[in-house]
Amino acid sequence: MNQDTVFKNNKDWIAERLVVDPDYFNTLAKGQKPELLYIGCSDSRVTAEELMGAGPGEVFVHRNIANMVISIDLNVMSVVNYAVDHLHVKQIVVCGHYACGGIKAAMQSADLGILNPWLRNIRDVYRIHRKELNAIEDEAKKYDRLVELNVKEQCVNLIKTATVQKAYRNRGLRVHGWVFDIHSGKLIDLKIDFEGYLKDIMEIYHLD
Ligand code: CO
Repeated sequence: MNQDTVFKNNKDWIAERLVVDPDYFNTLAKGQKPELLYIGCSDSRVTAEELMGAGPGEVFVHRNIANMVISIDLNVMSVVNYAVDHLHVKQIVVCGHYACGGIKAAMQSADLGILNPWLRNIRDVYRIHRKELNAIEDEAKKYDRLVELNVKEQCVNLIKTATVQKAYRNRGLRVHGWVFDIHSGKLIDLKIDFEGYLKDIMEIYHLD
């Protein structure tokens, strides 16, 4: 996709929106009140809003390689803080996807330079769930399961933050884990046991 195409598409998009609602951009310019924070993968095939059928203003979005929530990543932590404490989102979603290049890369025996410390966090997920993963013989199924377990662990990482603990207690904020099945386009709710995780990790990670 070249730049000329992008700007042509943008013109067409503006025209389309204004036909539907002449006030469309005036409304957008007034501000945002999204109810959902979406943390997903940067993968170009997994477009956050499109796969959810959401329009501008409906979802606050953060994307990085393999949808990670890392406690010393100022970027994701600022997004979580702003979305929860200032925009008052009601739900946070971590959305992984099958055939994730980040997950695959993490399991390779290769020095990937600056990517090493990032991908190391995925190896940590593997280590925590080594028993279950090593018992899966089919390589493809093993990767799929690691994608799911990674989503689960990133949800746990969210629950470890004071921001989420406080918002849960004060106004019932929820955390969800989803996987986008790239082979069918289907969104799968992993139905993570939010309250169970919270109870389990509070013994060690109780901040607020
Ligand atoms: Co990915």
